[in-house]
Amino acid sequence: MSANFVALAYLLAAVLFILALKGLSSPVSAQRGNLFGMIGMAIAVLTTLTITQNVIYIILAIAVGGVIGAVVAKRIEMTAMPELVAAMHSLVGLAAVLIAVSAFYNPVAYGITQPSFFSQAKPTLYLSSRIELFIGAFIGAITFTGSIIAFGKLSGKLGNKSLRFGGQHWVNLLLGVAMIGFGIAFCITPAWTPFLIMLALALLLGVLLIMPIGGADMPVVVSMLNAYSGFAAAGIGFTLNNNMLIIAGALVGSSGTILSYIMCRAMNRSIINVIFGGFGEGVAAEDVGAAVQKTYRSGSAEDAAFLMSNADSVIIVPGYGLAVARAQHAINEMSTLLLAKGVKVRYAIHPVAGRMPGHMNVLLAEAEVPYEQVEEMDEINNEFADTDVVLVIGANDVVNPAAKTDPASPIYGMPILEAHKARTILVVKRSMAAGYAGLDNELFYLDKSMMIFGDAKKVVEDVIKSLQH
Ligand code: TAP
Repeated sequence: MSANFVALAYLLAAVLFILALKGLSSPVSAQRGNLFGMIGMAIAVLTTLTITQNVIYIILAIAVGGVIGAVVAKRIEMTAMPELVAAMHSLVGLAAVLIAVSAFYNPVAYGITQPSFFSQAKPTLYLSSRIELFIGAFIGAITFTGSIIAFGKLSGKLGNKSLRFGGQHWVNLLLGVAMIGFGIAFCITPAWTPFLIMLALALLLGVLLIMPIGGADMPVVVSMLNAYSGFAAAGIGFTLNNNMLIIAGALVGSSGTILSYIMCRAMNRSIINVIFGGFGEGVAAEDVGAAVQKTYRSGSAEDAAFLMSNADSVIIVPGYGLAVARAQHAINEMSTLLLAKGVKVRYAIHPVAGRMPGHMNVLLAEAEVPYEQVEEMDEINNEFADTDVVLVIGANDVVNPAAKTDPASPIYGMPILEAHKARTILVVKRSMAAGYAGLDNELFYLDKSMMIFGDAKKVVEDVIKSLQH
């Protein structure tokens, strides 16, 4: 295939990727966005196959990877999605490292050497190629080990607590400086010793950067690693001299960075802290409020049905428990019944509700909840004060008023859905247990709150039965 045709096909794929990202910015256009992304990827892969040797090996690798990917995707529970994403990012990081190693091992095959003045002498690496190898390898290495630690924490294999030691920031800083030092040494005199030391330091840094990050801050880390994996892919693109990979990597890197920024804002964290690790310090979450015995009211699904059917307006706040119970279809059925009774029903979505960005949007879209009923935190927060009933279903941290009122709370400063301002608050969960951040929640003890204990799906099905009578 001619170079011009390849460039044109890559340009088309790049445009499709950009349209895919644009589509994914709203639930209404997300499906179309996905389709653009798939077509773009098909064009990119097919075009790349036409310009590579060893096509058989590549097709074999795609087939093996494709089968593993399909099996994993089919088996994975929606609630385990974040750890799967973290595991996938680690593979992108590893790919970047392996390509950097193989390019340095055989630079002639990669076309990254400059001819020597003396015809007998060994060809040397271009300076730009050394810099690319250094950057691609260290970002890839940090992404690789950092994502493995994130996977371990999210899947509970490493616990989701912050693991730290004294002077960790200084150790990280020292390692970072040493890593850059050896990287520069490699750029000046390309040799295996500085390259491998730089790589080992980056691998260690990936572990140390993610280890100290505590439970509630993990979503920002996952999206940050997503960005790193994009930049690592762009680094590989430079090494392989492949424009498509540079563009796709840059798109993933920049969109991941923007998502991280949005997440940081939603959790009141600074992005600098995320990059250098080590936030999430403060009170051990479990200790908070555990000692005090407080009273709360509890009621039944029938009570909830009565209160909601007599309300003018109901706001539903879904959280992680909705995903665990798979109650999304039942909740849609319930809101349809309430709407038929003339009740105004809306859903309020917190940016970090659930366990991954957009988790609640995905569930509600799956249940075909109309998009006009779904509102983001900033759009709906002013409306709670004028709302008769809020139904908090399987959510906890995202409605915890301590984030606004208790400076000693680990989540102080995180924006929340202001459910506490509504006239009546119904909370569906199985017990008084804490949410992800391990904190007690004052909302449950307010005079106007009523706990409805049970599995979210079962409770909603009981509410539906009452509404139908
Ligand atoms: P959480 O604070 O985790 O609370 C979920 C609540 O659901 C729990 O208190 C639990 O109480 C209840 N629950 C669990 N299973 C249930 C079931 N089958 N039926 C009914 N209730 C059930 O959830 P949230 O309010 O959505 O907040 C999300 C938290 O996760 C935040 O701290 C956030 O930072 C963190 N996080 C978010 C992400 C992203 S990107 N969204 C990623 C990682 C972490 P019971 O056990 O008493 O039922």
